[in-house]
Amino acid sequence: MYTAFGYALLSALKNPEETFLLSFNGSSETQQQCLEYMRLRHDEIDLLDRIEIPENARVLDYGCGIGRHLKYLRDRRADITCIGVEKCDGLRSHCSEAIAAPNGFFDNIADALKEDPFDLVLLMGNGLGILGDEDAARKGLRDLVNSMAQGGKLVIETGSMSGRGYQTEKLRISFNNRTDGPFPWGSAGRDWITRVLENLRCKVNISESQAPYGISFFAVATKSN
Ligand SMILES: C[S@@+](CC[C@H](N)C(=O)[O-])C[C@H]1O[C@@H](n2cnc3c(N)ncnc32)[C@H](O)[C@@H]1O
Repeated sequence: MYTAFGYALLSALKNPEETFLLSFNGSSETQQQCLEYMRLRHDEIDLLDRIEIPENARVLDYGCGIGRHLKYLRDRRADITCIGVEKCDGLRSHCSEAIAAPNGFFDNIADALKEDPFDLVLLMGNGLGILGDEDAARKGLRDLVNSMAQGGKLVIETGSMSGRGYQTEKLRISFNNRTDGPFPWGSAGRDWITRVLENLRCKVNISESQAPYGISFFAVATKSN
């Protein structure tokens, strides 16, 4: 399956000016620059650079998109194993070609979680949203923490307008003749993320993200013994 988001980003590999349309909860569509979803910002680079990644670490990027975070990590570390989960076939094929082995790309999280424990799990690019509504997000985070080695880290970018609790919005994405959605997209405040991850026996560190709209933050959860 190819998604509108995937078509847009793959098209932007040839035409960097490419845009797609995004709408929340039935509001009017806003034009999004594909490049914003293809390049790492400085604050993302700083965050990744601050994380200690053990030798031969296994890294899982859930909803890896065009693979910008895995590409960055692979460029710096030939020893790590890069595992991506991405539902768009085209984006997955791009990542398998662009990110050198050892690697593995899956179209669903269940298959990726059958693999050995992960040392680092990424839910980046407002990635908590992938998990859907609040109940699904609680379960999804529990499954991800269960898949991690002791001392492993889970890095999440999220943020909501209210800044508190958990919200689920309906997203629609259009590019050329294709529209996906409305589909549920979750976001959380610092209080919700901290409470849920601490209940999963993680230590949680919150830092600021420079993502557009000024509402996002990073949560880095370390799995305790
Ligand atoms: C907002 S994008 C973020 C991409 C990437 N993390 C980044 O920061 O560049 C979310 C990505 O997750 C993928 N995705 C959404 N739901 C998914 C699911 N249930 N399983 C696998 N991939 C999913 C989408 O196709 C999209 O590429």
